Amino acid sequence: MHQIIEPKILYFGTPVVLISTLNEDGSSNLAPMSSAWWLNDSCMLGMSNRSQTVRNMLREGRCVLNLPSAGQVDAVDRLALTTGRGDVPEYKAQMGYCYEPDKFKVAGLTAVAGEPGWPARVAECPVQMHALLEHARDFSSPHLAALELRIVQTWMDDAILNPERRHYVDPDKWRPLIMSFTEFYGLGTQLHPSRLAQVF
Ligand SMILES: Cc1cc2nc3c(=O)[nH]c(=O)nc-3n(C[C@H](O)[C@H](O)[C@H](O)COP(=O)(O)O)c2cc1C
Repeated sequence: MHQIIEPKILYFGTPVVLISTLNEDGSSNLAPMSSAWWLNDSCMLGMSNRSQTVRNMLREGRCVLNLPSAGQVDAVDRLALTTGRGDVPEYKAQMGYCYEPDKFKVAGLTAVAGEPGWPARVAECPVQMHALLEHARDFSSPHLAALELRIVQTWMDDAILNPERRHYVDPDKWRPLIMSFTEFYGLGTQLHPSRLAQVF
């Protein structure tokens, strides 16, 4: 039997993204997020515009999208309840968030020095992408932003690539970290051959 409920959240399960952005002093901020979806060479991100990440992105117009694998779950969890904003917003302070100027250090992740004008990439993440901000608008509330980004350069770890077709990721090797209803999960094994995969 189905029940009519008033769900607190609708986070049905999406891959975690670690976004690096340039702070005003030229250092790199790093923040976990998971309200992200992908289409062709673009993606849409949903983020609080009270985050340091959105402030940095609106100012700089760019970011690095680092996708952790399930193996980096500890590092991602260490970044929870941190913000790169020195003036921690009151609602976050009440939830226990703290200002953290060096998120790479807190997470125990390695910063790969950014190309000129770009924030650092996360060495441990198998997928690292340079992305340019195309559009930003309010989403659902004035405190949330929908950010459309275009991917302009992509680094992929050999370990997840198909050795015979080097521009393709092998989905059996890619083990994303999934956030579902605020808890961490990985993927299971393939369920069924896909007819779409044959035409792609
Ligand atoms: C796994 C995970 C997923 C998250 N997903 C989102 C998200 O999709 N959108 C968002 O606004 N915040 C999300 N957060 C919370 C942000 O990380 C948080 O607002 C953080 O303070 C942002 O950092 P910043 O202020 O340095 O940018 C997520 C946190 C975790 C740990």
